[in-house]
Amino acid sequence: MTVTTVRNGVRCIEDVPLADIAARFGTPCYVYSRAALEAAYAGYRDTLAARGLLDRSLICFAAKANSNLAILNLFARLGAGFDIVSGGELARVLAAGGDPKKVVFSGVGKSPAEMRAALEAGIHCFNVESANELDRLNTVAGELGLKAPVSLRVNPNVDPKTHPYISTGLKSAKFGVAFDQAFDLYQRAASLPNLAVKGIDCHIGSQLLDPLPARDAADKVLGLVDRLAAAGIVLEHIDVGGGMGITYRADEPAPAAADYLAPLLDRLKGRKEKLIFEPGRSLVGNAGLLLTRVEMLKPGEEKHFAIVDAAMNDLMRPALYDAWHEIVKVGAGDMKSPEGVTATKATESRAWEVVGPICESGDFLGHDRELALAEGDLLAILSAGAYGMAMASNYNTRPRAAEIMVDGAAIHLIRRRETVAELFATEALLP
Ligand code: LLP
Repeated sequence: MTVTTVRNGVRCIEDVPLADIAARFGTPCYVYSRAALEAAYAGYRDTLAARGLLDRSLICFAAKANSNLAILNLFARLGAGFDIVSGGELARVLAAGGDPKKVVFSGVGKSPAEMRAALEAGIHCFNVESANELDRLNTVAGELGLKAPVSLRVNPNVDPKTHPYISTGLKSAKFGVAFDQAFDLYQRAASLPNLAVKGIDCHIGSQLLDPLPARDAADKVLGLVDRLAAAGIVLEHIDVGGGMGITYRADEPAPAAADYLAPLLDRLKGRKEKLIFEPGRSLVGNAGLLLTRVEMLKPGEEKHFAIVDAAMNDLMRPALYDAWHEIVKVGAGDMKSPEGVTATKATESRAWEVVGPICESGDFLGHDRELALAEGDLLAILSAGAYGMAMASNYNTRPRAAEIMVDGAAIHLIRRRETVAELFATEALLP
């Protein structure tokens, strides 16, 4: 949940006081720990290594969770592949030094141009989500004189027991092909001249804390793999998707990677297929935080509002999913803003609505948080490394935040703050 430590009353990320980052780069800003990113990756790698599976596994970081080039590059250096869902993500992965041969391309609406770019880059596999997509991919590959490697993303109709907006494996979802139609579709894929059937894919949802739905989905998938083999369609890999949850709050702890993966890996024991994993949140979520400053306090009759300089455009998850992120005070040394404004004296602790300055009632970052706050205080919004910056917008013409990577005592600016001028540079007045 927390990537920070408090040393002599000073809240740090690795060896760097958060207040130093705020003073140097301003707020709001995202701050990541390189060590935490590497530790999260090691959770998967070591679990697979302990079972002798590492050589035939590919860990494909789901770029949608955090697509900053420095983060993609870090995972590429660790040997990861990538799960992408757009031509834009493909371009990012390539720009970050990712190996196209380790890229899988998911998503329900790939355009011909995106298919072309991925075929030309030589990606590992397309995770195809419909019959029409098979036909389109066959046509595009034919035009290029190439054979497209494909998996079908099957929808196992398993309840992942998570938020409905991030459940993807139920019959009612737009994702994947219906389990009952998958066998016929594989036969069709095998008959198309410009496709090479390679594997099978299944992703049932995100922020899963219970490992059993993933195991149940795997059981269904393995049954299908065996039926296909009996019919002469032998698959080379099984892609089990992403979805492992993280701890956002202490009373909802997430299992360690080894424990989450155990039931699934038990099922895969003794099989010959290669394994692909598509973790997003679990590799980056708890390695990042959003640093923000209390702009204004507005105690009221019914509710007390702490208006901070981060908002729903920076971190959309609370507004969109009613998601809970722990909010902590940065502590001593947080009193000076870059403009030199010194904080007023701390008030007593009380329950604050931590909100942003955006003109929406849904613009909140946390409800009912017991904190002793003064204007100018710095706050860290934790577990914000996944689907934080990646989902940020410019609503209210707010420049997107800076991103900083801490590595021991070193501080790297990995994305500078946008300027207001940049936000309307692509627009034009009427003649
Ligand atoms: N593979 C596929 C095909 C996916 O659709 C996703 C996430 C992943 C892998 C990675 O799943 P993860 O390991 O991160 O659970 N914006 C939401 C989460 C949306 C997840 C979408 N798909 C949030 O902030 O909670």
